[in-house]
Amino acid sequence: MKDAFTDQLAVVTGAARGIGRAIAERLHQGGARLLLVDCDAEALHDTAQALQSAHEWAIDCAVADLADPAAIQSLAEQIAHRQERVNVLVNNAGIEFELPLEKVTVDVFDRVMAVNLRAPLLLTQALARLFPEEGGTVVNISSIHADHAFPNAIPYACSKAGLVALTRNLALELAPRRIRVNAICPGYIDTPMWDEWLRTASDPDKIEREVAMLHPLGRRGKPEDVASAVAYLASAQSGWVTGTQLVVDGGLTIRAHP
Ligand code: NAI
Repeated sequence: MKDAFTDQLAVVTGAARGIGRAIAERLHQGGARLLLVDCDAEALHDTAQALQSAHEWAIDCAVADLADPAAIQSLAEQIAHRQERVNVLVNNAGIEFELPLEKVTVDVFDRVMAVNLRAPLLLTQALARLFPEEGGTVVNISSIHADHAFPNAIPYACSKAGLVALTRNLALELAPRRIRVNAICPGYIDTPMWDEWLRTASDPDKIEREVAMLHPLGRRGKPEDVASAVAYLASAQSGWVTGTQLVVDGGLTIRAHP
């Protein structure tokens, strides 16, 4: 899929690190100009600098807390002001809190929903008018938590299930404008989010081994595994695919028993 995104502008949220960074790198390799969005200014600029050294096509950054609706509006206004057209939007930014039912607070639930579900809705709504007449693609990064229950993950799972429902509904509403909308449901992926979670475990090495063994393909995922799936759903290769969810989990969720 070399050159699949030449002359296209891709907006990638949560692009400073982890899966978002790998997605940005993959789309840039395919020829896309990038607008990278993240709330972590320092990491975002480091990432932009590192990616820019590989190819000449432009990379811009926007520091924004996507939990803030005003920040999303201002981002859309900045793009409109530059008279840019958006061809690809990847709603990747996400947060997770591991909490048992009795520890779930209104603040935590609202924060997770604001970042993982409301932001993709508001950003897609604000940027849809900036897509060209020929349309484009939106890819939402959900999770296997959308369809499967894991312990201590209620707010996260609700937000990711909501994101799959949002994907289907956006796909229907935006189809007349030829904007395709799809979701990816990754399994366990090696990222800073995973590392942070692992540090809270009592025996991280044991958990690493156990989690690898849960996967029929014998390993956890890499950010690049998700980035390749995004490249497919964001490109013309998937031109007849909309409103669907693509599971990228090394077979984790097909097992009847662990
Ligand atoms: P990460 O924590 O490594 O990176 C997330 C990025 O999003 C960070 O750069 C962070 O600064 C940014 N971000 C967080 N809140 C933000 C906000 N309010 N406004 C702007 N930027 C914000 O996470 P990772 O692992 O790369 O995950 C990316 C996406 O993939 C998330 O939506 C996550 O839920 C999803 N996912 C991750 C899996 C994993 O195993 N790592 C598995 C399934 C889904």
